[in-house]
Amino acid sequence: MLLKESETIVLKSPDEIEKMRKGNLIVAEVLALIKEATGPGIATIELEKLCEEELKKRRVRPAFKGYRGYPYCLCTSVNEEVVHGMPSKRVLKEGDILSVDVGIECDGYYGDAAITMPIGQISDDAQKLIEVAEDSLRHAIEKAMIGNRLYDISYAVQSYVEENGFSAVRAFVGHGIGRKLHEAPQVPNFGTPGKGVRLKQGMVLAIEPMINAGGSEVVILDDGWTAVTKDGSLSAHFEHTVAITEKGPYILSKL
Ligand code: MF3
Ligand code: CO
Repeated sequence: MLLKESETIVLKSPDEIEKMRKGNLIVAEVLALIKEATGPGIATIELEKLCEEELKKRRVRPAFKGYRGYPYCLCTSVNEEVVHGMPSKRVLKEGDILSVDVGIECDGYYGDAAITMPIGQISDDAQKLIEVAEDSLRHAIEKAMIGNRLYDISYAVQSYVEENGFSAVRAFVGHGIGRKLHEAPQVPNFGTPGKGVRLKQGMVLAIEPMINAGGSEVVILDDGWTAVTKDGSLSAHFEHTVAITEKGPYILSKL
């Protein structure tokens, strides 16, 4: 999501967290099916159609379609596209990388997750970018513990990707999630450790590092949605919806 004004953080009961688990598990299943169907020669619009069918089967509503006029269930961002790429007749080719982001509403609660995948054989540099982006999310999730501060999560992403020579996008952030797709707090992918709100039981966060091989700056294309890296470098995106519980981070969107 784009940066916006802050509001109060809505805490979720264990019951609500289980409801959110149900929807987020569907997100995970659909992402796995999309991953299986993806490869050289596939057009991104075909993945959109697959997603639409699978969501219909499972009787959940796509969360992105209609959101501020966004026309699709999926975001499909190829290579230098960072986020909010739109499904199209563009055919994926060997060596591309593709980020797929899915959001749903199920029983009044939202789910949101994203993965980046290789298309056939990709370069070592592209492979490393994907791995570092995914690992940055793992490190961030490890900080989603009662008593930590919000920017401990942010710093975990920033420090890990910068150590690896990459940069974290600053223009977009992760977010609280629940009865709305975007709730407080914003979850930046950079920040000062030990700062930010204290993490409490019942917070549910969509943590979503967007990692560029080059500089952190992004530009929005004329379609009004697609964000690309300003320097044309590759970009990867991973996202999980995570609940903060007594037992530690609970990854609701993990299979
Ligand atoms: N995961 C992204 C976000 O939280 C996807 C939003 S796509 C949109 O902002 F179309 F809904 F904006
Ligand atoms: Co999100």
